Amino acid sequence: MSNQPRHIAIIMDGNGRWAEARGKNRTHGHEKGAETVREITAYCAQNSEIERLTLYAFSTENWKRPKIEVEFLMKLLEKYLKNELSTYLEGNIRFEPIGDLSIFSSSLRKTIEQVRSETSGCTGLVQSLALNYGGRDEIVRAANRLIAQNAPVTVESLEKVLDTSENVDLLIRTGGDHRLSNFMMWQSAYAELFFTDTLWPDFNGDELAKIIKKFKTVERRFGGLN
Ligand code: IPE
Ligand code: IPE
Ligand code: MG
Repeated sequence: MSNQPRHIAIIMDGNGRWAEARGKNRTHGHEKGAETVREITAYCAQNSEIERLTLYAFSTENWKRPKIEVEFLMKLLEKYLKNELSTYLEGNIRFEPIGDLSIFSSSLRKTIEQVRSETSGCTGLVQSLALNYGGRDEIVRAANRLIAQNAPVTVESLEKVLDTSENVDLLIRTGGDHRLSNFMMWQSAYAELFFTDTLWPDFNGDELAKIIKKFKTVERRFGGLN
């Protein structure tokens, strides 16, 4: 039987370069990138093999960027969630944020919580946005939860207190770089990694379909022998 792309995770990289190549401000690339998020989410929602789509939207390291870009990204995120609420509901898509949300403004946190709770009954695709997310930060926060509970540290107990225990099947990075940039370090332990030079604003359902086709032919052994 071929591999099921049950959980796809994407490092959405290349927005800034996409805009710069057109002589535009980096923020223009982020706006275009938000349209790709909409398209790829719709593609995955229509493909019943895909149960979960996790998108890296803002890392714990992205605060190092100029204030003006960070502020733009926060506003774009809030606008996106508000505009897309009806799309989530119509598409039966459940929104699940991961990452440390405590740092965001109260207005943004309220919007994130509203979309999360209003879509919590949706039974189709789970679209998980990684917001102020870092794999190391997630593992440290999880370890501290176990310490607070005075619980033993095991793979199973730690998994329960991570932001998500869902293993990634297929991890894609757009934008040409071959690195994880602190994304889903625990959950990607046995993910199949795919890298494409396509910049995120140019990525689309056709390219995702090609990657999934290739993914299905890979022999996944999980340390065993086939
Ligand atoms: C990814 O695109 C989006 C975020 C990190 C928020 P970039 O903004 O990193 O675009 P490049 O990599 O500079 O082209
Ligand atoms: C990774 O992209 C983070 C997101 C896509 C949100 P970056 O552009 O921040 O990664 P580096 O700095 O090239 O590793
Ligand atoms: Mg980048």
